[in-house]
Amino acid sequence: MRSMLLCVPAAVVMCLSANAFAQDYPAANKTITFVLPYAAGGPTDKAARDLAQSMSKVLGGQSIVIDNAAGASGSIGANKVAKASPDGYTLLFTHIAQATLPSFFRNLPYNVEKDFEYIGLVSENPMNLIGRSNLPANNMAELIGWAKSHKGQINIANAGPGSASHLCGMLFQSTLKVDMTSVPYKGTAPAMTDLIGGQVDLMCDQTTTTIPQIEGKKVKSFAVTTPTRLSSPALKDMPTMQEAGLKDFTVTIWQGLYAPKGTPAPVLKKLNDALKVAVKDPEFIRKQEAGGASVINDPRNDPAGHKSFVMSEMAKWAPVIKAAGVYAD
Ligand code: MLT
Repeated sequence: MRSMLLCVPAAVVMCLSANAFAQDYPAANKTITFVLPYAAGGPTDKAARDLAQSMSKVLGGQSIVIDNAAGASGSIGANKVAKASPDGYTLLFTHIAQATLPSFFRNLPYNVEKDFEYIGLVSENPMNLIGRSNLPANNMAELIGWAKSHKGQINIANAGPGSASHLCGMLFQSTLKVDMTSVPYKGTAPAMTDLIGGQVDLMCDQTTTTIPQIEGKKVKSFAVTTPTRLSSPALKDMPTMQEAGLKDFTVTIWQGLYAPKGTPAPVLKKLNDALKVAVKDPEFIRKQEAGGASVINDPRNDPAGHKSFVMSEMAKWAPVIKAAGVYAD
């Protein structure tokens, strides 16, 4: 009884100070940082910058900056946020890797389920298999023939095990039954530079960053990973992987926002409210659609829907990754 009497006032003080903190959040003189676990100039970076711009408008011009904490397939940035102060000023913007890295890494230094608050999902992106411009194949049939006759000689670039580009490339190899040499980068922006330079042969990247390179004739495009063809002018003539004979081959990448576990509920509510307005911003929608992506406008914009979707994606990808037998330390 005595300890209860001592504890209650302490809890009340804590509660009052959390509320006072939340009322002031976000403070005009403080910056919100979106930690982005891949290199600048890639698709995740682009989506994060677009969201930051729209959320900043919604939050009355709040300063939101991007911190590209790239490396180790995106786990360095995610771990930075898992260990950050839960004050709403350090957030993680990441993609499907949130659900796939736990199956790839033997020793992931954070727990996806327990170490984050889920704020909301924002967009979904198709992927696109592309190759260096001087590749001796001009369509999927020729590419498949070339790949099968060059077993063990092909390099495929990606952003590390568990990244979007890696998942897509891994499925491509297992469906074709052709092993390729995986070349990991800190993101697909530096990988794209090497693909354009001809240092690597293939890459599967998100359409938001492949479209400008296809339009500029810097890379060859072979197929998209959606169940049906895309409408964007650069990709409308591209077959789907399934049309090209790769049965059940679909991959969609999703992006979302997270805070460190323990961020006060009123702060999370402000962030979620701002995210839900931002994803309806016509400018945000226009930018995503121009890159072949679509903006999420369903219960996954909310913390509970976001978290249950990520957990279902973890369960969906775990057996695929286990079967591939690829691990990272
Ligand atoms: C990926 O392949 O996971 C992404 O393209 C990484 C990135 O945004 O650079």
